[in-house]
Amino acid sequence: VEKKDELYRGKAKTVFLTNVENKLILEFRDDTSAFDGEKIEQLKRKGEVNNKFNHFIMQKLEEQGISTQVEKCLSDNESLVKKLNMIPVECVVRNYAAGSLCRRLGVEEGIVLSPPTFEFFLKNDALHDPMVNESHITGFKWATEDQIAKMKLLSFEVNDILVALFAKGDMLLVDFKLEFGVDENGHIVLGDEFTPDGCRLWDKDTKKKLDKDRFRQGLGSVVESYIEVASRIGLSL
Ligand code: C5P
Repeated sequence: VEKKDELYRGKAKTVFLTNVENKLILEFRDDTSAFDGEKIEQLKRKGEVNNKFNHFIMQKLEEQGISTQVEKCLSDNESLVKKLNMIPVECVVRNYAAGSLCRRLGVEEGIVLSPPTFEFFLKNDALHDPMVNESHITGFKWATEDQIAKMKLLSFEVNDILVALFAKGDMLLVDFKLEFGVDENGHIVLGDEFTPDGCRLWDKDTKKKLDKDRFRQGLGSVVESYIEVASRIGLSL
């Protein structure tokens, strides 16, 4: 596969066209951003760690019947993916209260959410990704009612699979964000990434944070923690 023109540069990944129809290259960079790009740093090896972590998780999800964008790892920090028409919303599932939910509702971090909660956010940095509901998504035609139902169902399926996977490594999957797109056949496919940049993971016993909150909160050992998470679920980096 040949890498062609840059299609899109995000805060931590760059998307490239290729010489193959409907296939793109996702490059994971060392750039790490928080607070809508207000805090940006380069963390050595993060691109490689996230690329391999994402590939590993997407493979696990595929094994459990979830369609994902990932085709294969091409290099340390690049993966070949299917081209999708991305739906401009983020799907967030939460098993424990943390982050923006605590701020919004004034609840204590760590409260169990049973059943898990589900939220949509509009992808828009300038507006700080505002929360939206299903009527906004259908009203503005960002997705259809069927697509919304499918994204929600898939998000909860991913939650079940990954709660179990991380539990094997004595971790709690606190929350995570997914993005979906539509493939050439009109099917909803899981896109973007699943890495410790887009989820919260705590040690089950000590509640130590092992995810991007280490970066957001200046706790240090960010990439080292991602590598530890990987190792706990059987991926040696
Ligand atoms: O900030 P908040 O608590 O709403 O985030 C919920 C989850 O979604 C966290 O795991 C966070 O890392 C992830 N997230 C993300 N990208 C965003 C917003 C949230 O990966 N733009």
